[in-house]
Amino acid sequence: MNPGRTMGLELCRTVADFRLACDRARAHGAKLGLVPTMGALHAGHVALLEDARRRTDCVAATIFVNPTQFGPNEDFSKYPRTLDADLEKCEAAGVSLVFAPDTQEMYPQGEKTRVRVDELTAHLCGRSRPGHFEGVTTVVTKLFAVAGPCVAVFGRKDYQQLCVIRRMARDLLLPVEVVGHPIVRESDGLALSSRNTYLSAPDRVRALTLSRSLSRAVAAFARGERGAGALRLPVAEAIESAGLRLDYATLADADVLAPIADESRVGDRVLLAVAAFAGSTRLIDNVVLGEDAAPVIEARS
Ligand code: PAJ
Repeated sequence: MNPGRTMGLELCRTVADFRLACDRARAHGAKLGLVPTMGALHAGHVALLEDARRRTDCVAATIFVNPTQFGPNEDFSKYPRTLDADLEKCEAAGVSLVFAPDTQEMYPQGEKTRVRVDELTAHLCGRSRPGHFEGVTTVVTKLFAVAGPCVAVFGRKDYQQLCVIRRMARDLLLPVEVVGHPIVRESDGLALSSRNTYLSAPDRVRALTLSRSLSRAVAAFARGERGAGALRLPVAEAIESAGLRLDYATLADADVLAPIADESRVGDRVLLAVAAFAGSTRLIDNVVLGEDAAPVIEARS
């Protein structure tokens, strides 16, 4: 697809162009929606775009594989980049603006500034991916700064990311309303992810253990189980015995994300979050017990 304006969609490559396009939309009275992504768009991203479309008058998607949120041994260079297909999906979802800058544009030469959120980032993925959230909050601050006042939609698939960004927007007094969207799954329960394309067929089957074990925890919680260990340990065991390498299976406060010890009893709303490696592919999933439905109805095997 050619850069510039296509039928209903304007592609911006520079900060200046995107800022102008957002300002122009608001000047015409439109409420702006913003959906930040790293591209390789799938039905989970599209659901966020459609959510933003319902909430606002003009939706801007951003597509930028942000180098500062990848660790030195992570998949930055092989992360899928599919701009033409992404633009088609954006257009079909009713997106008006796409911002797809290059790295220079987002990180001008000599830049020295990072945005860090404390405490919320110390747990879960923050423990195993040092620097990751600093990269996320830095780039999202920049995107918010360029877009200006808007409603920004983020997925609950990255539950910790959503909490961190919500807190950041509040703490920095940013003119952005942060909205969370439920996890979009394949029909067998696997949470959609751009990284699922890396999975071999056997790993794709193993990966189902995440959503299935979370579903069993939802069922146990619904039966009245409130013992933290009784809810958490079967999830960790199922993931390990499926041949995945467990990063964490953690029960945590659903707002401040502080982990809950196995000896404790949990309240009526608690986050159960998991991360595991299938080969070198890192997968994450979560449910808020007491709030979310089970990821899969049939939770045997
Ligand atoms: P990315 O992984 O591309 O995800 C973009 C948005 O899509 C995030 O808000 C993420 O939570 C959401 N998303 C991904 N898979 C989803 C699913 N199965 N269901 C619901 N939402 C889903 O997250 C990032 O990019 C980056 O960290 C970013 C915020 C863009 C900053 O670089």
